[in-house]
Amino acid sequence: MATKTENKIIVAIDGYSSSGKSTMARDLASRVGYRYIDSGAMYRAVALYALEHDMISADGSVDETALIGDLDKIRIDFELQADGTQHTTLNGVDVEREIRQLRVSSVVSPVATIVAVRHRLVALQQSMGESRGIVMDGRDIGTTVFPDAELKIFVDASPQTRAQRRFTELVEKGAQVSYADVLANVVHRDEVDRTRAESPLRKANDAIAIDNSHMTREEQSAWLLEQFNRVISRKK
Ligand code: DC
Repeated sequence: MATKTENKIIVAIDGYSSSGKSTMARDLASRVGYRYIDSGAMYRAVALYALEHDMISADGSVDETALIGDLDKIRIDFELQADGTQHTTLNGVDVEREIRQLRVSSVVSPVATIVAVRHRLVALQQSMGESRGIVMDGRDIGTTVFPDAELKIFVDASPQTRAQRRFTELVEKGAQVSYADVLANVVHRDEVDRTRAESPLRKANDAIAIDNSHMTREEQSAWLLEQFNRVISRKK
């Protein structure tokens, strides 16, 4: 007889920045009682470490040698909060707010192109999925981290829609940013994500694509739950 763990699956959700994939992933995880892992937060935490240790120069270039030399000193984890959300920690310090700021968003792409950084984080992500029962979102989850995930989703939306979402989110948090800057950042990050040599963003052949430009949060979450239930019912 199958054990509970054997019945649990891995849900891999990939897509462009601000495509709403985290919201979908989080909603699904809480509805089905799975753990949600935001892999982008892990790249952001490494970028924050590099910023805090003066490894990023004014022109945005990263001192790769220094960062790679420090990888063993970087501990990233997620801490469950009383309200059910998870906060990213960097060497034991809650950095959830800091990693979402534009100062981190604007330097995270080059950090995420460093092969040694990716290998380190992919290994950590794979260990988090060992007992299955997780929903992980990112750029390479269905292609590299969990190529055997039972459910893979690829989320897309137009750059303008995504920039508007990110802009509204930042303004609500009190950030002083312009829509034009946010759009430029989204377009730039798309380009870097798509063209990097190591694990570029691409849809896995067996991923289901969804464009959520004109969908509400409820519609997306209901759609994802339907996909999840379909896979689970096939496993029984
Ligand atoms: O999803 P996000 O915007 O928080 O991701 C932050 C950065 O990390 C973004 O530049 C893409 C990169 N990333 C990645 O390369 N691979 C992942 N699995 C997740 C994020």
